[in-house]
Amino acid sequence: KPRLFTGIQPTGSLTLGHYCGVIHHIISLQNDYEVIIMLADLHALTLPNPHLNYQEKCYEMAALLYACGLREENCKIFCQSQVPEHLILSHLLSPFVTVGSLSHMIQYKEKKRGEETGNLALLSYPVLMAADIFLYDADLVIVGQDQRQHLELTNTIARKFNNFFGQNLLKIPQFSIPDRGAKIMDLQNPTRKMSKSEPDHLSLLDAPEIVKKKVVRAITDSENKIRYQPKKKPGISNLLTIYSLLADREIKEVERNLTDLNYHQFKLKLAELINDKLTIIQKNYGFWRVRVEELLRKNSNHLRLQAEKKIALLKEELAISSLPLT
Ligand code: TYM
Repeated sequence: KPRLFTGIQPTGSLTLGHYCGVIHHIISLQNDYEVIIMLADLHALTLPNPHLNYQEKCYEMAALLYACGLREENCKIFCQSQVPEHLILSHLLSPFVTVGSLSHMIQYKEKKRGEETGNLALLSYPVLMAADIFLYDADLVIVGQDQRQHLELTNTIARKFNNFFGQNLLKIPQFSIPDRGAKIMDLQNPTRKMSKSEPDHLSLLDAPEIVKKKVVRAITDSENKIRYQPKKKPGISNLLTIYSLLADREIKEVERNLTDLNYHQFKLKLAELINDKLTIIQKNYGFWRVRVEELLRKNSNHLRLQAEKKIALLKEELAISSLPLT
């Protein structure tokens, strides 16, 4: 089977943005691909947070991902830090990336928060991301809209690397950003993406009353007409996108069917739909949470063997020592 790869940073809760942006799409493809989902704890460390227990977050996220409906036998979720080859490959790719191109990345500029330069890990973040992808010879990578620029850079790195060595040592996968759901917006500020760092994000572990409260107070407009017009009506369009994804219907169809409702009625219906989904996920969560530590270990061991092979091959081609450092 071809291989589908993606990564998620274990820095907070898994949100409805993650669900609509990537998880939902991966679930619908899981019969046709071998799925690998990496919990990017090394990426998370680029902005260190002394209050965060990364290991605990990895367990929580992995259990939630399985609880969403990813099947154990076909989907290997693992922690990036358990496979140190990611760092080796990142280093091998580094000579093929200019500091200038890294400093132009939108996320780098956002995350350095007004400082003249950000830290080194933040700068080299996309190189590690490229390494994640090439380590497993992925065929397909699915991400949300905010990762587009990183994927473009990944592409450029691979071309330069392969050109230099005169052979296709790095496999360039197909990059996919879903048409629908790739940028779920914040409920309070629908011109910004929903992010785990904003207070009104919908967490997959939110209780039904909380979901209802957050959805009901979501910012919309004063027109009270349910229309999908992302530029003019970002709030209601965002809610329509979420609705259409969870109900598995086209946006046009949802628009047509709900046209008689006012915003408040629509929001109540949406909250119900979200809660139906979350209830199932939360019910499964406990089952997975007690099994997930063992499962992550098993998955890491399995993937590490593949990663080691890839690195051994590259070392041979690059004619650098394959002797262990110890
Ligand atoms: P992260 O942890 O920010 O987000 C994980 C994935 O979820 C998508 N996403 C969203 N999609 C739609 N609407 C939203 N509001 C929303 N919020 C997040 C993101 O686009 C992403 O696809 N750098 C990556 C992790 C990573 C990775 C990789 C991904 C590391 N290595 C290799 C792919 C391949 C990140 O920070 O994602």
